[in-house]
Amino acid sequence: MNIEGILNKGANILKANKIANPFLDSEILLSELINKGKKHIILNPKEILKSEHLNRFNKLIKRRKKGEPIAYLINKKEFWKNEFYVNKDVLIPRPDTELIIEQVLKIYPKNSQLQVLDIGTGSGCILLSILKERANFYGTGIDISQKSINVSNFNAKKLKLSNRSKFYNSDVDNFAIGKYDLIVSNPPYIELLNLKYLDKDVVNFEPKLALNGGLDGFSKIRKVISKASNLIKKNGKLILEIGFNQKNEVKKILKKEGFYINKVLKDYGNNDRCIISTKN
Ligand SMILES: C[S@@+](CC[C@H](N)C(=O)[O-])C[C@H]1O[C@@H](n2cnc3c(N)ncnc32)[C@H](O)[C@@H]1O
Repeated sequence: MNIEGILNKGANILKANKIANPFLDSEILLSELINKGKKHIILNPKEILKSEHLNRFNKLIKRRKKGEPIAYLINKKEFWKNEFYVNKDVLIPRPDTELIIEQVLKIYPKNSQLQVLDIGTGSGCILLSILKERANFYGTGIDISQKSINVSNFNAKKLKLSNRSKFYNSDVDNFAIGKYDLIVSNPPYIELLNLKYLDKDVVNFEPKLALNGGLDGFSKIRKVISKASNLIKKNGKLILEIGFNQKNEVKKILKKEGFYINKVLKDYGNNDRCIISTKN
């Protein structure tokens, strides 16, 4: 079968299974598989594919038609300016989370020297993106999932940041190493009972541990803020990603733990998404 034939076959299967962008997904999967850019695929529709590639493509389409996210199928996701390795053990980095990086770069000039802690580091996307932009920053990432720590360590190597980053498998509750100028976190913040309303691609495939914020959605946020309050240096900053409806409660928790609120930022969908605070 040629490129055109297999692309159409894949896209038709995805379409029949109500996958949102069937042709685009089919192209991405084939292009990854044969390791050729989209341009090559478009310019060579009659190129005959090896049977090994056809078999692997069919397997990927089978997984995609069940809703498995493309990022898990190709084991990568762009975030900020870099490509991160991802697998089912970590949350797929989201564009809204880039707000945190944007703000860090606005606040701290290029030559500043800081110790940064990322709580619930997952793929390491937040911490490693910051370190890549600021050559004098040193970073620590923690996560309750050992499997996600394996992924963040892998990404640190891939981005040549192993010499400035350390990752620990730890529950935020038990972590007590170091003092930090800046703490960042995108904690799980979805209410337990709302998990089932998330997109099927998300709820069926991404780790529950990365999403579940407990009954009221604040259980992990509270832990992060209370722990950050001990681990942060005086005048240090805490930058948190929050749910669209969590601003007021998070402000209250922050104030109670001795933080001053600097500002709340909206995401691309105009929802409150990021809150910057300073430890008094
Ligand atoms: C929403 S994900 C964020 C991942 C990554 N930082 C990102 O922005 O893509 C939350 C992460 O927190 C971790 N986590 C959940 N509970 C935790 C806890 N008690 N202590 C430390 N990490 C925790 C999860 O394993 C998950 O990797």
